[in-house]
This record gives sequence, C-alpha cells and structure tokens, in this order.
Amino acid sequence: MNSIFLSIVAAVVSFFLITLIFGFFYFLCKSLKRRRRTHHHHIPQTRAVRSVPPATAGRGGELSSVTIDESASFDPSLNRVSMEELKLATKNFSSDLIIGDGSFGYVYKASLSDGVTVAIKKLDPDAFQGFREFRAEMETLGKLRHRNIVKMLGYCASGSDRVLIYEFLERGSLDQWLHDTYSPVSKERSDDSVASVKLLPLSWETRNKVVRGVANGLMYLHGLDTAIIHRDIKASNVLLDLDFEAHIADFGLARTVDASHSHVSTQVAGTMGYMPPEYKDGVMAATVKADVYSFGILMFEIATGERPNLPMVFNGKEMGLIEWARKMMAHNRYEEMLDGSMPEKEKEKGLLSEEKVKEYFSIACKCCNETNADRPTMAEVVDLLNRLSS
Ligand SMILES: Nc1ncnc2c1ncn2[C@@H]1O[C@H](COP(=O)(O)OP(=O)(O)OP(=O)(O)O)[C@@H](O)[C@H]1O
Ligand SMILES: *[C@@H]1O[C@H](CO)[C@@H](O)[C@H](O)[C@H]1NC(C)=O
Ligand SMILES: *[C@@H]1O[C@H](CO)[C@@H](O)[C@H](O)[C@H]1NC(C)=O
Repeated sequence: MNSIFLSIVAAVVSFFLITLIFGFFYFLCKSLKRRRRTHHHHIPQTRAVRSVPPATAGRGGELSSVTIDESASFDPSLNRVSMEELKLATKNFSSDLIIGDGSFGYVYKASLSDGVTVAIKKLDPDAFQGFREFRAEMETLGKLRHRNIVKMLGYCASGSDRVLIYEFLERGSLDQWLHDTYSPVSKERSDDSVASVKLLPLSWETRNKVVRGVANGLMYLHGLDTAIIHRDIKASNVLLDLDFEAHIADFGLARTVDASHSHVSTQVAGTMGYMPPEYKDGVMAATVKADVYSFGILMFEIATGERPNLPMVFNGKEMGLIEWARKMMAHNRYEEMLDGSMPEKEKEKGLLSEEKVKEYFSIACKCCNETNADRPTMAEVVDLLNRLSS
C-alpha cells in the first residue's frame, strides 16, 4: 500500500519534472527564434507604409543577404505597389517602354492599373552595393516635396530587383530639348503633339524659366535642415513637365550631409564638364558650392546650346566652355554666345535685351568662380535671377 502510494508520488513528480524540463527548452527555443526573426524583419517590415520609413530602417544594409520583398508608397496617388503590378504595367519590362538609360539602369514609362502613369527606374543589380544604398536613395527622395524636384512616389524591392517609382514628366529631359532635335523618346508620347515630330528650340523665355526652376530646386535642397548636395547637376538630370517647369532628377549620387559634420563625404561624383576645379585637384569633398559650379555650367549650356564636355574654339584655339565664355564676355560678344537655333522673333519683340543677356552670363560666371568660397549660395543666385526677370 505504502509502496504503491510512493510509486504514484514518484511518477507524478517525475511527470512534472519532465514537463518542466521540456517546457523550459520549448520556451527557450521559442524566444530565441523570435529574437532572430525580429532581427531579420528589421528590413522587410515597411510594406505599404504611407509615410517615410522609420529612421532605423537605414541600418538594414548589413543584412542584404536576407531575401528582400518590400515595397513602399510615399504618395497617395500610388496605391498598392508590388513587383507583379509593375511587371504588368511595363509588359515584363519590355524594351518598347524604355524612355531612358541612366548610369544606374533603364527608365521605363509605365501605366499602372488604376490609370496613373509613372516613370520607373529599374536599377542594375550591381548599381548599389546593397540594400542600404538603395534605401538611402529612396528615403532621401521619398521625403522631398518641392515643385522643382522630381517626386519619388515609392519603391519596390524583390529578390535582387530594385525599382524606384517616380512621377512621370511629359517632356522628358532638358538634355534632349537642348541637343536632340529629333528624339526617338518623344515619338512614343502620344499626348503631346509638339514633341511627336521635332523638338522645337526653346525660347529665351523658356530657358530662363528652366534656369529659375533648377535654381529654386537646388536652393530647396541646400536649405533643408540636413542639406542635400545633388552632386550631379546636368541637363539630363533636369526633367520638364508640360509647362516646361524644371524638375531636378536623379538622386542616385546624392548624399545627405549633416551641416554640423564638415562637408566631407566619402565619394566624389559628377559628370565630365560639370565638375568644379577642386575635384580635379583631388579634393575629396562635396560641398553645396560644387553644385553651384555645376549649376553655372548648366546656365552656360542652356543659353549657348553647347555641350559642356566638348571643346569650343576662340581665335583658332581650342578650350573648354567656361574659358571660351569668359573670353567672349571680355570681348563683349554676348549675342554670338547665344544658341543660334533660338527663335529669331524674340529679338524683334525685344524679349532679348542685351542688358539681360549680359546679366544672365555674369550670374553664370559668378557660379563658376574657380574659388569655392567666392561662388554665391543658391539663395543668392535665386535672388539675382529674380531681379533679372523683373
Ligand atoms: N520621371 C521621369 N519622367 C520622364 N522621363 C524620365 C523620368 N526619369 C527619367 N526619364 C528619362 O530617362 C532618362 C534617363 O534618366 P536617368 O536619370 O536614369 O539617367 P541620366 O540622367 O541620363 O544619367 P545618370 O544616371 O548618369 O545621371 C532621362 O534623361 C529622361 O529622358
Ligand atoms: C510576363 O512573363 C510571364 C512569365 O515570365 C508570362 O506568364 C506573362 O504572360 C508575361 N506577360 C507579358 C505581358 O508578356
Ligand atoms: C572670383 O571671385 C572673386 C571675388 O568676387 C573675384 O575677384 C574674381 O575675379 C572671380 N574670379 C573669376 C574667374 O571670375
């Protein structure tokens, strides 16, 4: 009797003990698993966020080996984005829909199922070293709202595919309007008759409007709490809408620079012809004044219709666009500097006052001062341009 009772007690006790031990291991495993999972889910949790992703998101770069399937919308006009939807909208990224080829990959025109037309940039798999760089670009762009900045509507990442979604700008890049009289790009655009056959040379008025737009956009970027240096201001990164309002594009090379931490950043970037002299001297620093220099070059390009990376000739001597412009200005040959294809009518109508042309070039020249510190800020440039137009 006693031994039966004892063995029952022993059985019950050992049952509880074993349950306790199993239970302990079960909870240990579970909590470990959970911790690991939350760690991984650091990146892919922003699906369908309506606003800017959390600040911690940028640290996801170290985990780029993790399978990524994530998308985000930064704008109410963009509903539910997914790679499936984008494949549908671009006929599986069909080459018929390519409207541009940048250094990071192809740009497609896409019509989403709800009727919204967007431009999507499909990044080359190796354009960014990892997810961190990709997210850096979209985080920067997704937050920005200014009439002279291309709106980034969202992004999509699936496996190794990275796609950025932008508002579509009907008249394409300024580069085409300045240099390609016939554009294969515009043939696809059924919506505007002007561009469907031939791109007409821009009028002096329109050129000034574009210059003011770019200046305002840059002033906005430089004036943010944490200034953004664009680093690659050039004609192909200026897009035009139906009203020829300028929108600055392509922040692939942009890096946010905290004003309190020096101006030093890790990578010098830019395009031949637009780079300030300090880059050639090996100064590895990007400053807002480097953008001002590129902007000055762009002003010369817009007025003259000349490509800044091609040599010009003055008195039989080959030289760069800037040197040529300074020489022409010193000899008061302003009229000759202007793009020859500009409509003649304007001169008759008095829109092209010599005084204004002179002032225009003098502003461009100030921006292109060899000495970084002697260049005006974008706010000062905007001020000068406003006075020019009034
Ligand atoms: N949002 C957009 N709307 C309309 N066209 C666009 C849009 N984004 C890009 N494009 C077209 O695609 C072209 C390529 O753009 P992208 O910014 O990728 O490269 P890029 O400026 O030519 O070169 P890089 O990448 O070296 O700066 C543009 O010049 C423009 O013609
Ligand atoms: C896209 O590709 C998938 C398979 O890869 C195919 O089933 C589908 O029909 C294609 N769609 C178009 C529009 O080509
Ligand atoms: C640069 O700016 C300084 C100061 O305003 C001026 O003296 C100098 O002439 C400028 N240089 C050029 C090349 O315009």
